[in-house]
Amino acid sequence: MPTRLFSPYAMRGLTLANRIVVSPMAQYSGNAANEATDWHLMHYGNLAVSGPGLVMIEATAVEPRGRVGQHDIGLWTDAQAAALARVLGFCRQYGQAAIGIQLAHAGRKASTARPWEGLAYQGEAEGGWVPVSGSDAPYAGRPVPRVLDHAGLDEVKACFVAATRRAAAIGFDLLEVHAAHGYFLHAFLSPLSNTRNDAYGGDLAGRMRYPLEVFAAMRAAWPAERPMGVRISATDWLEGGWMVEDSVAFARALKDLGCDYVCASSGGTSPDQVLDVGPGYQVPMARRIREDAGMPSMAVGLITEPMQAEGALRDGAADLVALGRGMTYDPRWVWHAAEALREAAAFAPQYARSHPSMRFGDFTKLAPEAAARQRR
Ligand SMILES: Cc1cc2nc3c(=O)[nH]c(=O)nc-3n(C[C@H](O)[C@H](O)[C@H](O)COP(=O)(O)O)c2cc1C
Repeated sequence: MPTRLFSPYAMRGLTLANRIVVSPMAQYSGNAANEATDWHLMHYGNLAVSGPGLVMIEATAVEPRGRVGQHDIGLWTDAQAAALARVLGFCRQYGQAAIGIQLAHAGRKASTARPWEGLAYQGEAEGGWVPVSGSDAPYAGRPVPRVLDHAGLDEVKACFVAATRRAAAIGFDLLEVHAAHGYFLHAFLSPLSNTRNDAYGGDLAGRMRYPLEVFAAMRAAWPAERPMGVRISATDWLEGGWMVEDSVAFARALKDLGCDYVCASSGGTSPDQVLDVGPGYQVPMARRIREDAGMPSMAVGLITEPMQAEGALRDGAADLVALGRGMTYDPRWVWHAAEALREAAAFAPQYARSHPSMRFGDFTKLAPEAAARQRR
């Protein structure tokens, strides 16, 4: 019987070859102008030839103040678009995966050093900046952000829309809005970080208003035949914070605006969060969104084993599974999963002879998809 993991998945005009997604992972390797570099070419190129249905390009800042740090990649200049187009061109020429991009604004968590440099806030003397946010509640240990008024919020929305247009022009297959991990949009949603007392704060409807407006504006700028999803933190893991029930309500509202999937991540509002981390720890949240909101879901978080991934799909918790760290630990995860589940994954023809069935030179037993490519 065919597996769910290796069955195609269609969203609007895009059909993914399988349900395996490379989760967006910041590489902190942009150049001084926040353009993608050779590192991105190698990193995404390698993943694109390794068989996943979809490779997500990391959180890409929509404006300079929205960078997590100075080495992020961005999409507010033509040169940044050209650098990403080069990466996409390589992935298209040699890979088989669809390629999506995540657009992001770091909000009050902006201007930090890279993880391997300690993640500390970097002030202006170190090339950093004062973060902007919808509220004046700082992230622990960071400066009080500059609060944006309505004109400022319109400006950020316009940056999201402009980056959407650039992403569409470059030719990305799918767009994801980053509304998780305590960044700009998530900070509106969580009652712990949203202290506004206007229409963009207060009750759930008020806190969801701005992120929904941004989504709607981006959706209008993104081609109708291409899918668009949202990554959320399904819970803050904090008493009095954003809860899974709120995520269900948010997913319902997003569905009305033409959202094609929600990826259920979690946390990021405060370092006080009490996470219960274990294998597939966020899968139940993806299930809630899928079942209670009727929204296609993407599960992520410590999904590392092929049968575990297959189980999340087969149990009806998710439509797609994303792997982050597991994929950089083993970039050929998809090939290995295909072997374990007796399925076929796409091989670049240059690598087709590394398939186990080719070890003794028996071309006829090559995984069908790889064989087809090899014969071309
Ligand atoms: C190095 C690194 C960078 C990440 N960058 C992003 C990012 O740009 N956007 C995002 O939404 N999540 C980001 N994440 C979170 C991952 O996408 C993923 O949700 C998380 O690592 C849990 O999945 P995993 O257990 O399969 O790694 C990052 C994670 C890592 C390890």
